[in-house]
Amino acid sequence: MRRDLPEDSKFVLRVGLLDRIGSLLVQSGFDRCVVVTDHNVATAWRPALQAGLTPLRQDWIVVPAGEEHKTLDHVRDLYGRLLGLDVERQTPVLAFGGGVVGDLAGFVAATWLRGLPFFQVPTTLVAMVDSSHGGKTGVDLPEGKNLVGAWYPARVIWADPRTLRTLPRRQWASGMVEAVKAALLASPRLLEQIEDFSRPPDPSGRQDAEIQELVSEAARIKREIVRRDPWESGERILLNLGHTLGHALERAGDYARFTHGEAVGLGLLAALRLARRRAVLPDAWDLLGRVESLLAAWDLPRAIPASFRWEVVAAGLKRDKKRLQGKLVFVLPTRLGRAEVFEVDEAEVCQVFEELHAAEGSPELG
Ligand SMILES: NC(=O)c1ccc[n+]([C@@H]2O[C@H](COP(=O)([O-])OP(=O)(O)OC[C@H]3O[C@@H](n4cnc5c(N)ncnc54)[C@H](O)[C@@H]3O)[C@@H](O)[C@H]2O)c1
Ligand SMILES: [Zn+2]
Repeated sequence: MRRDLPEDSKFVLRVGLLDRIGSLLVQSGFDRCVVVTDHNVATAWRPALQAGLTPLRQDWIVVPAGEEHKTLDHVRDLYGRLLGLDVERQTPVLAFGGGVVGDLAGFVAATWLRGLPFFQVPTTLVAMVDSSHGGKTGVDLPEGKNLVGAWYPARVIWADPRTLRTLPRRQWASGMVEAVKAALLASPRLLEQIEDFSRPPDPSGRQDAEIQELVSEAARIKREIVRRDPWESGERILLNLGHTLGHALERAGDYARFTHGEAVGLGLLAALRLARRRAVLPDAWDLLGRVESLLAAWDLPRAIPASFRWEVVAAGLKRDKKRLQGKLVFVLPTRLGRAEVFEVDEAEVCQVFEELHAAEGSPELG
C-alpha cells in the first residue's frame, strides 16, 4: 500500500540565506545540529555556514568529494560518527553540498535511529534544481548507481545562490543540463531564460537575481511533478527525460568520462532525435538546434566518443530500473514544454546512437 510522503519539503531560495539558518533552526526548536559536507564545500563555505549556525552547537562531518564516495562504507562510517557524537532522535542533520552529499547524508538521516530530522543546504546547481527535491536518498553499489536508498524528503531545502560563486564551470554546465531538461518538460519560458543566461556562458559575472530566477523556475518544475506523483508511479517518470541513454553512457564511461549532466546532455539529444524519427515532435530540428547550441555554449559534449561501443551501451540500457516488461522505455518531447513515455525498439535507439557517434564538429572531451 502506498503512503503519502511524510510532508512536502519547503524550499527557500535566497541570497544570504546561509547567515540565517541557525536562527531558523532555533525557531524550529533545535539547539544543535550535525552538518555533513564534502572537502570542497568545506574549504569554500564552512566559515560562512559556521557563522550562520550560531548559536547552535554544531558538529561537522567532512567526507571526501566525489561520486566514488557515495557508498555503504561511508554510510557505515557516518553511523559511527553519529554514535560518537551522541546524536539523539531530535538532532537534525544538514546536508551541505551537492547531490552526492545530499543523497548520502539523506540516507544516513533516514536510517539512523529510524530517522533524524533532515535538512538540505544545496551548493551545486544540480542539487538546487534537482537532487535536493523529491525525497530520493541513497548510495551506489559496485553493481550499479543508487541501488540502495530510501524515500526521505528534507523538511526544508535552504538554497543560497551565493554558494554557486565557487562552483567550477564544468559543474555549472552539468546543472544547466538538468535545467534544460526541466524546460523541455514544462516550460518554454525557462528555455529562453537559460538561453539568455548562457550568452556569454560565464556564470561568475552573472547577477544573483538572474541565477535565482533560473533556479527557482527549474526547481518549481521538478517539485510540481514530484508533488503530483511522489512515488514515481506515473508522471514522475517524465523526469527521466535524457536519462535512459544518459545513465547507460555514464556507466559505459565508468563514471569517469562524463559527469552525470554531460551524459544526460547527450541523452537529451538522443531523445530529441528519437522524437524526430517517430514524427512525434513538430519543429524537431528547431528544438534540436536550440539544445545543441546550449550544450555548445557550455562546452558540453554533443557527440558520443568513437571509443564507445553500442554493445556496451545497450547492455547498460537493459539494466535501467525504469524498464517496462523488457521494452526500452524512453521519455520523448512531443512539443516544447511537453513530453510523453514511449516504448522504443533497441534498433531505433541504435540508429540514433550511431548518428550521435558520427556527429561532426562536436569536440570530444579528452
Ligand atoms: N536524489 C535525487 O533525486 C537525485 C537527482 C539527481 C542527481 N542525484 C545525485 O546527485 C549526484 C550529483 O550531484 P552533483 O552534480 O551536485 O555532484 P557532487 O555532489 O559530486 O558535486 C559536484 C562537485 O562540486 C563540488 N562542489 C559542490 N558545491 C560546490 C561549491 N559551491 N563550490 C565549489 N565546489 C562545489 C563537489 O565537492 C563536487 O566535487 C549524483 O550522485 C546523482 O546520483 C540525485
Ligand atoms: Zn539527472
